[in-house]
Amino acid sequence: MPKINYDELSFDDEDELKFPRDAVQDFDRVVERAVSRRGFLGGALAFGSGAAVMGAGLLNGSSAMAAQVSRFAFEQLAPQTDGTVHVPNGYNWDVLVRWGDPLFSDAPAFDPATGIPTAGSDRVFGENTDGMELFHQRGTELLVVNSEYVNGKINLPAEQEGQPASADDVTRLQNFQGVTVMEVAESDEGWDVVVDSPYTRRIHHRTPMAIDGPAAGHDLMKTAADPTGTQSLGTFNNCGSGRTPWGTYLTCEENFNGYFGTTEELSLDEVHAAGFKRYGVSTDVDPGRYNYHGYDARFDISKNPNEPHRAGYIVEIDPWNPDATPVKHTALGRFKHENAAYALAPDGRVVVYMGDDERGEYMYKWVSRDIYVPGGDTSTLLSEGQLHVAKFNDDGTGIWIGLTREDTGMTEAEIAIFTRMAGTAVSATTMDRPEWIAVNPTAVEAYCCLTNNSRRGALDDSGEIRTNAAGEPMVPNAPNPREVNRYGQIVRWRPHNDDHAASTFDWDLYVMAGNPDVYTDGLYAGTANINAGNMFNSPDGMQIDSTGLIWIQTDGDDDNEGDFLGMGNNQMLAGDPVTGEIRRFLTGPNGSEVTGLTWSADRRTMFVGIQHPGGSFPDGEGSLPRSSIVVVKRDDNALVG
Ligand code: FEO
Ligand code: CA
Ligand code: CA
Repeated sequence: MPKINYDELSFDDEDELKFPRDAVQDFDRVVERAVSRRGFLGGALAFGSGAAVMGAGLLNGSSAMAAQVSRFAFEQLAPQTDGTVHVPNGYNWDVLVRWGDPLFSDAPAFDPATGIPTAGSDRVFGENTDGMELFHQRGTELLVVNSEYVNGKINLPAEQEGQPASADDVTRLQNFQGVTVMEVAESDEGWDVVVDSPYTRRIHHRTPMAIDGPAAGHDLMKTAADPTGTQSLGTFNNCGSGRTPWGTYLTCEENFNGYFGTTEELSLDEVHAAGFKRYGVSTDVDPGRYNYHGYDARFDISKNPNEPHRAGYIVEIDPWNPDATPVKHTALGRFKHENAAYALAPDGRVVVYMGDDERGEYMYKWVSRDIYVPGGDTSTLLSEGQLHVAKFNDDGTGIWIGLTREDTGMTEAEIAIFTRMAGTAVSATTMDRPEWIAVNPTAVEAYCCLTNNSRRGALDDSGEIRTNAAGEPMVPNAPNPREVNRYGQIVRWRPHNDDHAASTFDWDLYVMAGNPDVYTDGLYAGTANINAGNMFNSPDGMQIDSTGLIWIQTDGDDDNEGDFLGMGNNQMLAGDPVTGEIRRFLTGPNGSEVTGLTWSADRRTMFVGIQHPGGSFPDGEGSLPRSSIVVVKRDDNALVG
């Protein structure tokens, strides 16, 4: 295989390269696809004719918009293509913290040309900021932030082309990822990280974790270093975030598969072989993106074949206790977790919505067995409950199918470890890469960004439809209606009986992104709430503020050419859930993804993440580019969310 440039390759494309999906050789499925397309077009008309499905019909959304006063406190920002951040008139931004900035006063200084050495690399803010949440108590504000992955070319000597050459290199990369807990404070000079705060903590790829839930102690979780199968080291590829009503942070392990590899040819039993294939753990003798396995045997599946089973979970962290052991909650399933969005059912049970971000994977919902009682014991609330997977019907309804022993033919531990297989067993709906889910605090509804899916309905060289990792053909379906979906959409659902724990729901598409300049009609033009002024692609991060505005962040093609002409750099937009109106609010520097959003306790500051910027953002000419969190405020210091 020719040498792979991992810095140019998305995690999804990496999986595709290593696990090319089989074409489906079944003619009946091609027919099924054609039928499905006709079905969608009928469904789309029903949608557009308005209230029949769910109220705000999208294809006639513009008349609803005109009739209502705008809820936006800003004028739309034009698309941008340069190397910095832009916000609307009347707003300002500043950098809060950059990769490599000190969290402790003994941290090494950042070298603009070489970054941070290994010694002290766990004393600085990590790279590639992602999901974040703010917690406050008695005037103290803690920002808890994920560092999703590392760019090897930035962190290692140039001649190594991004590849570790020693155990020391691996340690450095491991230290820059994971989670940071840090205190932040605002003064007359603006916001700063409180260096040496007693709350400050770096959690990385070697931090001790506890494992609980149905998979804890199972044979597939045991390793030589942990014969109990209940304690692991590290949390991996921490993508989106979540929080609990009792004030803990949830970090979500996404592309964990990429950290594992093998130094020897393998002879695997069926269970391990099937699991590695479905989850994209490479079984080739190959350094891969990180080559941890070359220097740290824990990541070598020829020596520790169960270690990958101990990653891919939702991990709970108590931000107020730096000594608390993070807990991996296997009850919430193992997949490429994007984020975790909670809601409380009317009876007090805790509901957590979660997406599995890979082409053709599924959306999940977990419901706790016990109820949340403020001030009560919450230590096992995420340990016992029922996981469900989403099935969307073409008629605008859907069902959460319980992943039970009876329906999947798997034990509870197997469902927790091989959740994707359980979803396949009950015929869940294949989705266009579920990214962030957000629950509306002002209405009983939730939204999920379906970022894109270049394989949806796409044909291979012999004219057959591409499949997902389970071998299911990715035919277009109602919530994922477009072949070769390069723009993405946001699906919205309202649970029946106004109860997030209910097993049925109604759904619609809040928006299908598109380019009405390039495609004057048809599905690639997008829904009526997309126009020449607010175009974007690949919705990914999402939060809904306390007023019910939907903040949408993008991680897509920012070359501003062809299908993407007029969209500019990745960005953050705000959407009105009622009228469907969407306006661009912020643009990131070119090369970057805008991801992660939270608010200060007084709601006068937004914290926004800028991941993998290109150029030399934010320090300017001659400096390495540095992933950063920026603070955004109104010039008049009014509320921003
Ligand atoms: Fe880490 Fe799916 O984004
Ligand atoms: Ca994301
Ligand atoms: Ca993404």
